Amino acid sequence: MNITIEVNNRSIKAKKGDTILEALRQNGIRVPTLCNMAHLTPTGACRLCVVEVEGYDNLLTSCSHIVEEGMKIKTHSPRVVRARKTIVELLLDNHPDDCLYCEKNGSCELQDLAVELHVRERKVLSKSFSQKLDLSSPSIVRDPAKCILCGRCVRICDEVQSVSTFEFIKRGCNMYVGTTMSRDLNFSNCIGCGQCVLVCPTGALTERQNIAEVIDAINNPEIVTVAQIAPSISVSIASEFGMKATKDINGIIYAALRKIGFDYVFDTSVAADISSHEMAQELLDRKENGESIPMLSSCCPAWVKFVEQWYPNRINLLSAVKSPQQIMGSLVRNYFSKTVGINPSNIFSVSIMPCLAKKFEAQREEMTTRGLSDVDSVISTRELVRLIKLYGIDMQNIETQHADKPFNIRSSAGKLFGISGGAAEAIARMIYFRITSKELVDKNIKEERIGSGVKAFSFKAAGHQFRFAIVNGLKNIHEIIGEVLKPENEIDFVEVMACPGGCVNGGGQPFTMDEKSVKQRAKIIAEIDEADGIKCAAKNPSVHAVYEEFLEDVGSEKSKKFLYTRYSPRDVLL
Ligand code: SF4
Ligand code: SF4
Ligand code: FES
Repeated sequence: MNITIEVNNRSIKAKKGDTILEALRQNGIRVPTLCNMAHLTPTGACRLCVVEVEGYDNLLTSCSHIVEEGMKIKTHSPRVVRARKTIVELLLDNHPDDCLYCEKNGSCELQDLAVELHVRERKVLSKSFSQKLDLSSPSIVRDPAKCILCGRCVRICDEVQSVSTFEFIKRGCNMYVGTTMSRDLNFSNCIGCGQCVLVCPTGALTERQNIAEVIDAINNPEIVTVAQIAPSISVSIASEFGMKATKDINGIIYAALRKIGFDYVFDTSVAADISSHEMAQELLDRKENGESIPMLSSCCPAWVKFVEQWYPNRINLLSAVKSPQQIMGSLVRNYFSKTVGINPSNIFSVSIMPCLAKKFEAQREEMTTRGLSDVDSVISTRELVRLIKLYGIDMQNIETQHADKPFNIRSSAGKLFGISGGAAEAIARMIYFRITSKELVDKNIKEERIGSGVKAFSFKAAGHQFRFAIVNGLKNIHEIIGEVLKPENEIDFVEVMACPGGCVNGGGQPFTMDEKSVKQRAKIIAEIDEADGIKCAAKNPSVHAVYEEFLEDVGSEKSKKFLYTRYSPRDVLL
């Protein structure tokens, strides 16, 4: 039901039950915010969103107060503007002054607020923060000196990711955000998903940068540089280069990477197709032997770490097939190197990922073959954007190119790995084809919900029934795990992506608090699939060639040696 309120002497409609902030936004009226996050309980911590409401002595935080019929609100009265300015001045009173060198320079919300509120000098100077920079994690750098206590990381990690790495420690002016027992991130329960990096308004949480080592390798004439690009990258960065956000720029990225100096560029979606072959076979084998069902997906390294930490007695359920990133890395090192006659140790293998946990995955001991890491360096989508800008590539005026052989043709099922539900669909298509030699079409898939609403689907192939569950993000994961493991639900496979929406919303993607653009990225991938001629990994000629020339067969000794791994329990303070 609508009510009427007055804002800045203008009468507007608002939905009963909405907060003042929601009502203002729905009417296109902006007030600055810091601690507020869509869909999460407002805390009223920063007070930046205050407004003046007639009849109230104090300014009200618009994010936590509900609109009332007839309210008369001023969003930018002198008192309100003064209060907001003082808040930002106080936030800056002990904030480091190294903006020029800060990772968030140019995308820092605190900088933007200082500009908006015309804070042009340091009014108060208080003692600088004494906690040290935390460089322990391969995924995330934490600089507590830049923390403004907005609590966004605390809430996203707890309420959305169900991990709860961060908490507020101490009270009043001694309060800070830290990890349990003040452990360094690498020794905490952090799974490296990077969702906190996406929401931190300042440079307090940023990704671990790997650009420098990539540039060194490119500049070294003795090294052959190889890049692989994850399925979701091409639909995530067009707007960073002034192009329509919905443009798929796969071919443009290949061309740009070659201009930067990479010797070979490959599509990780091809490795995703190989992963579909292997995981489909693994699932069929497990089902036949009646062991380790449901099989849990293992393509998301943050999820794998989550299982290792919280569910050590369920590790046997994780698929033993490596993630597409690691499959590509292993094949580049052990197969591609031979086809072009390069010593594997002379290859510098770079993977470009939407995900910060991939940086951790690439460094895992298990991800090495004959003493060499499958992947040498992982850079995020944001780092790719920086690299392209650094080399001055004009993305709007560059001819599109194709990926290099032998990893140049993908099925659209491989591309689907970039969205929640995509890997499950790709594996379902593969299983159906393996059993029936026909393609799985929508009319043969029955969408379902299990337990308290977990998304699932089932299909029949030559009389065999399969049921797959899809877990989109880790919210409520502990209850969901209980449900998907119940034998009566008869789930065969569970796909879990730690980031809500999947890799299109990975922690390494361009900064956006905008749900719409994440949905748009997913939509483009779905449209690519819709229009594609090869929709099943079984029909991918590049993959056939890899099996013929190197792996021999799906599930062969060679496949097991190069594409499979094992995980083990991880002892951290939960
Ligand atoms: S680390 Fe960032 S997101 Fe977390 S409380 Fe500090 S400023 Fe806010
Ligand atoms: S990376 Fe993910 S798990 Fe780690 S602290 Fe951030 S949100 Fe939590
Ligand atoms: S945004 Fe409302 S109190 Fe922080």
